[in-house]
Amino acid sequence: MNAHSLTIIDNRTGISYEIPIKYGTYPGYGASINALELRQIKASADDFGLLTYDPGYTNTASCKSSVTFLDGERGTLQYRGYPIEQLAEHSTYLETAYLLQYGELPDAVQLAAWRKDIGLHTFVHENIKKLINSFRHDAHPMGTLVGTVGALSTFYPDAKNIHDESCRQKQVWRLIAKMPTLAAFAYRHSRGLPYVYPDDNLSYVGNFMNMLWKISELKYQPNPVLEKAIDVLFILHADHEQNCSTSAMRAVGSSYTDPFSASSAAIAALYGPQHGGANEAVLRMLNDIGSVDQVPNFIKSVKSGEGGRLMGFGHRVYKSYDPRAKICKKIAYDVFAVTGANPLIDIALELERIALADDYFISRHLYPNVDFYSGLIYQAMGFPVGMFPVLFAIPRTAGWLAQWQECLLDPEQKIARPRQVYCGNQVRDYVPMHKR
Ligand code: CMC
Repeated sequence: MNAHSLTIIDNRTGISYEIPIKYGTYPGYGASINALELRQIKASADDFGLLTYDPGYTNTASCKSSVTFLDGERGTLQYRGYPIEQLAEHSTYLETAYLLQYGELPDAVQLAAWRKDIGLHTFVHENIKKLINSFRHDAHPMGTLVGTVGALSTFYPDAKNIHDESCRQKQVWRLIAKMPTLAAFAYRHSRGLPYVYPDDNLSYVGNFMNMLWKISELKYQPNPVLEKAIDVLFILHADHEQNCSTSAMRAVGSSYTDPFSASSAAIAALYGPQHGGANEAVLRMLNDIGSVDQVPNFIKSVKSGEGGRLMGFGHRVYKSYDPRAKICKKIAYDVFAVTGANPLIDIALELERIALADDYFISRHLYPNVDFYSGLIYQAMGFPVGMFPVLFAIPRTAGWLAQWQECLLDPEQKIARPRQVYCGNQVRDYVPMHKR
């Protein structure tokens, strides 16, 4: 018998099955069996075979991936093997985006070419401006982003050619380059301000700040502390393996649709308050709490279930701490040194202090996640809360694209099509209206 296997005895039939166990890079993490091996387990010859039931895919690997590794028990996050702490300290968002796409850090020539190619694609078709103008003045910028990124597929019909490597490459440049432009235009629209065209002499983040905040100055000069803070936050948000939006990108992309349509679906998935919408929800929660002395009452209401969840706490995978949250907390103080402290920080710190000592949160392994502090930082910079998930979507585009290409190039991948356990009526005859 193979030591790396599982023996399953079906007590309905007494038949024994030996199923091989496969491993990923880290032997203690990702040992798996092929779910299709279970299909041979049948109660009778005409039985369909055994399925696994896994709502929310809490214990199902949908792919093999080499992009991002995270170990929830130890609070570890790595892109292509590089720890997030080192990337946050030494890399830039664009360099990290290159690493995610190609698997290696670029040399100086490769990085210069990558920057140039992205810089060449920052402008959007003038009709996109008209499209944004047609949204209501108070349209949520995530809704605008879902619509405009999806609309890009009509401006670039060549993007459908997804089996052509050079074509895919061009869409990668376009998407990474245009996301800040679309996001900034959505923001300016909500403020009733004229759009600012990209300035490719600035850094990726500096240009984004220019498109957001330039008023009448001839040349916008980004504040270097805020520019660096956004760049690091972008690195922290660039990928997070098979989360909801990335799974949406892969699932939609697996039907061979173009990457703009698939990215639009991923942005829609990110919009929800249990995912990228959480940083927005954190701010709303802190505002609702109102003052430090109300924190104990709020915690009580969370524990009783009446007050909803403690937003910015908990994670499907991280069960010790979210390494991104630690870095975020430090960035918050760098930013506050420039902008002045966000008055909500005291409420956040008190929430964290009480929750981390409370058995309800400890026993459920609920710790601050990346969204707990990012919203406070963005608010201190002057972003309205509606822009918070947009600031998540821009950098996550690099991760979505890396995962989309990995999915397309994986010979084992198929169109996403889960099974179900049918629990409805058995077949029955149609009842005419007069007999119901
Ligand atoms: N506040 C209070 N209780 C919570 C929380 C929370 N934030 N999160 C989970 N729980 C409780 C939950 O009620 C359940 O308790 P019980 O066992 O008594 O029924 C237990 O913890 C397990 O919860 P779960 O829903 O099974 O856990 P999950 O892994 O499905 O949920 C989560 C993960 C992130 C959706 C959830 O923790 C949550 O809703 N957090 C708040 C929203 C948030 O901050 N999301 C951002 C995630 S990080 C950014 C990203 O990657 O998208």
